[in-house]
Amino acid sequence: MENRKVTLTYNDGKDSLDFPVLPGTLGPDVVDIRSFAKTGMFTFDPGFLATSACESKITFIDGDLGQLYYRGYPIEQLAENSDYLEVCYLLLNGELPTAEQKAKFDYTVMRHNMLHDQILSFFKGFRRDAHPMAVMVGVVGALSAFYHDSLDINDPHHREVSAFRLIAKVPTIAAQAYRYNKGLPFSYPKKGLTYAENFLHMMFSTPVEDYKVSPVLARALDRILTLHADHEQNASTSTVRLAGSSGANPFACIAAGIACLWGPSHGGANEAVLKMLDEIGSVEAVPAFMEGVKAKTHKLMGFGHRVYKNMDPRAAIMRETCHEVLTELGLENDPKFKLAMALEKIALEDQYFIERKLYPNVDFYSGIVLSAIGIPVSMFTPIFALARTVGWISHWTEMIADPGMKIGRPRQLYTGAQRRDYIALEKRK
Ligand code: CMC
Repeated sequence: MENRKVTLTYNDGKDSLDFPVLPGTLGPDVVDIRSFAKTGMFTFDPGFLATSACESKITFIDGDLGQLYYRGYPIEQLAENSDYLEVCYLLLNGELPTAEQKAKFDYTVMRHNMLHDQILSFFKGFRRDAHPMAVMVGVVGALSAFYHDSLDINDPHHREVSAFRLIAKVPTIAAQAYRYNKGLPFSYPKKGLTYAENFLHMMFSTPVEDYKVSPVLARALDRILTLHADHEQNASTSTVRLAGSSGANPFACIAAGIACLWGPSHGGANEAVLKMLDEIGSVEAVPAFMEGVKAKTHKLMGFGHRVYKNMDPRAAIMRETCHEVLTELGLENDPKFKLAMALEKIALEDQYFIERKLYPNVDFYSGIVLSAIGIPVSMFTPIFALARTVGWISHWTEMIADPGMKIGRPRQLYTGAQRRDYIALEKRK
């Protein structure tokens, strides 16, 4: 129906108000309440449960149908046929690249992956036992002190160069954060490797021994990166947009996104899966653990999702990869992975989970895959951050390029003290 609107009526005799309904290409329509501010009142929606904070053309999620599209392409097709850098091109530019565009894009990213030598001094300022996410927040933010030549956010070329620098350098920073923690010397990126291969090389090679990258493991990591590349207006992406809306430089904005992702309600779930497996300990302990889940003393980590209520489309892809990796590494009989598979089987057949539509989410399997590859649990969230950097920078670019961009400035329902007069210190009780 053309020109739909929503009418707000008051119960105190004031005139009613009409608000236009804006249709999306997919997903729910939204009510345009921008003119509501003229009434002198605000809307109240903590947690943004009913609020679209922006218009976007990048990613679409249908939680009921279990669909995730990047620029209209279903995630299953991209995970099957594409690679991470092609997905980066797609998210940033809106279209899949031609062969020539792809070659140029890959070359440009790989050409930017070294760090300014001075940046290495930053790492040395951290304690060796610092969490790699703490190091990433600091070092990614510090990039703005090194690349003054790409900080004009109003210049599309500067924005593009910053995007390349971030996508290229964040893996190098993440790998170095790990190596510093382990006491290993810095490892430089290597030409001729794919993005995922290069990350594994930077993580695991030593000055005395090259790391031989297995194609199955590199493909698995590439898939993890693809599946985590973007997820619409989640907390960290919204943080990047809000930080960027003030005109802050892209390195500072991405550092803000990393800080937000660090929280356990956001990026920490795959880490929680591995901790849970360690706590359960053995297949024999699974029934008792499940009793505890049903009694609500603890949750089955890696199950359930706020948006996906039938299935997480990323989980089905990751499940397949998980089995490939465990077979490649001969870990099918490893006690921890047998335990994970036993948990998955019991949960999928159990009425408690079926009735509540609780299915494994992407983090259940990605945690297992990363652990099997030999990546320590503390690096799970940094890997999520490096995968999501392209999503963040795509949203930031989309926002800055919009001529109607406004600083994000929410209002509040104030419930504090009324106006009162200052009391001198000696008269206070
Ligand atoms: N284990 C056991 N019971 C659960 C679980 C779980 N993992 N998740 C939800 N439930 C139960 C919950 O107790 C409730 O039961 P009842 O109806 O009897 O009260 C019912 O299922 C509905 O749960 P809810 O809390 O309303 O669901 P939600 O949408 O608010 O929570 C969630 C979603 C992801 C926070 C939650 O499922 C959870 O904590 N899962 C474990 C943590 C996890 O794996 N998080 C990663 C999410 S994927 C990462 C991403 O995409 O960013």
